[in-house]
Amino acid sequence: MELIVAVYDDWGIGKDGTQPVALSADRKFFRETTRGAAVIVGRRTIEDFPGQKPLPGRLNIALTRKGGEIPGFTVCSGPEEAVQAAKASPRAMVIGGGSIYRQMLPMCDTAYVTKVHCTPESDTFFPNLDTDPDWQLSQTLQSGEENGILYDICLYKRK
Ligand SMILES: NC(=O)c1ccc[n+]([C@@H]2O[C@H](COP(=O)([O-])OP(=O)(O)OC[C@H]3O[C@@H](n4cnc5c(N)ncnc54)[C@H](OP(=O)(O)O)[C@@H]3O)[C@@H](O)[C@H]2O)c1
Repeated sequence: MELIVAVYDDWGIGKDGTQPVALSADRKFFRETTRGAAVIVGRRTIEDFPGQKPLPGRLNIALTRKGGEIPGFTVCSGPEEAVQAAKASPRAMVIGGGSIYRQMLPMCDTAYVTKVHCTPESDTFFPNLDTDPDWQLSQTLQSGEENGILYDICLYKRK
């Protein structure tokens, strides 16, 4: 399984339920990379989706312990159930947020990490893969600058 995340220099990923700095180049990379895949997402992150609607062209799998229905999403009560549901798609990608990344990182062998080189205040963090002995930077896929902010889109692989 794969995951995709945008991190700031301190590996912060969000504050007050949203991303304080978001780059359109990263959004484009996210759209292209997740197209056609099953995307596994925590209920809180869905609240930050435009209109709280599912992402088009993808199988949207929501994780919640509350049960019930979320229109447009396949609702699952835990990571294992989400992994099973994702088998309906050729590719499964974990797309956050913080609690879902933490729980599902051990199930992933590939991570697309956009490093957004700034440090806005965050209250949610991703584990630092640069200091994780299980992971290595495999390739920098793309580098650029947007609104004066440098970014690198990096591919990490489990060793
Ligand atoms: N930078 C990025 O790439 C990126 C990507 C995505 C999100 N984010 C940021 O991450 C933050 C949100 O992260 P978060 O950790 O607060 O919330 P989250 O991981 O998006 O969602 C948490 C919710 O997921 C459900 N959940 C968690 N573990 C579960 C389990 N084992 N079984 C069933 N359901 C489970 C629970 O929903 P219920 O409460 O309904 O039970 C829980 O409240 C936001 O700031 C967002 O902007 C950043």
